[in-house]
Amino acid sequence: MVIIDVKDFKKSFGSKVVHRGINLKVNKGECLGLVGGSGCGKSVILRSLIGLEKPTSGEIFIHGQNIAPLNETQLVDVRKKVAYVFQGGALFDSMTVEENLAYPLKEHTTLTLEQIKRKITDTLNGFGLQGSEKLMPASLSGGMQKRVGLARAIIMDPEVVLYDEPTAGLDPFNTKKIQEKILELKAKGVTSILVTHDMPTAFAVCDRMALILNGVIAQEGTTEQLKLDHKGAMKNFVTGEAW
Ligand SMILES: Nc1ncnc2c1ncn2[C@@H]1O[C@H](COP(=O)(O)OP(=O)(O)O)[C@@H](O)[C@H]1O
Ligand SMILES: [Mg+2]
Repeated sequence: MVIIDVKDFKKSFGSKVVHRGINLKVNKGECLGLVGGSGCGKSVILRSLIGLEKPTSGEIFIHGQNIAPLNETQLVDVRKKVAYVFQGGALFDSMTVEENLAYPLKEHTTLTLEQIKRKITDTLNGFGLQGSEKLMPASLSGGMQKRVGLARAIIMDPEVVLYDEPTAGLDPFNTKKIQEKILELKAKGVTSILVTHDMPTAFAVCDRMALILNGVIAQEGTTEQLKLDHKGAMKNFVTGEAW
């Protein structure tokens, strides 16, 4: 079953054309790796999938619903199903870890305070963050901040998770933790897109990968196919030969 279907997505900022017609499909429970040079438009695609950006033209279907024309009120329901893990974690600096995680639950669920506390403790434990409830984001390492950001994104049990460079700048321990979490969510049937420059992580968790070059998908294939391909655009990207 196709969960995400991006059709002829075009996006320009003023006279700057970024996407010239992107087509992507992601099936239920699949993780699609989206790679490409800095500034090629990976984050804009993810933001468009939750309606934070509007395409200049084209369609974005999520569960068969074209979300491109929806207004902010209509997008609330989409954002409950689709979680976006921001590049920097995007935690609220003035709130504790617990308050950061409680925020979506208080906004969008009818859980009691006790249920919320239990869910937060369970989620933090699952990320190796036990005991960090009362800490402020600024006192956490970069790796912990990213894990808290991911914990907050998935605490609503989303059907789709969009990861924007979740392992950028992380040490091997934190990178491994994030990989494990992505695989665990995938095993539960979560559909995802992983934007990354971290090729070992992409090869470890993605079922398929797509490379953006000059505003279009230059190459797409299963991770296995791409591993064996020695002359395509993806190979050049991975080895740095195209740049
Ligand atoms: N709000 C914006 N206004 C103008 N240009 C933007 C905006 N957001 C992104 N861009 C431009 O679009 C291009 C793609 O950005 P982005 O999706 O962030 O790239 P990346 O692939 O590195 O994630 C970049 O050239 C960027 O400068
Ligand atoms: Mg980006």
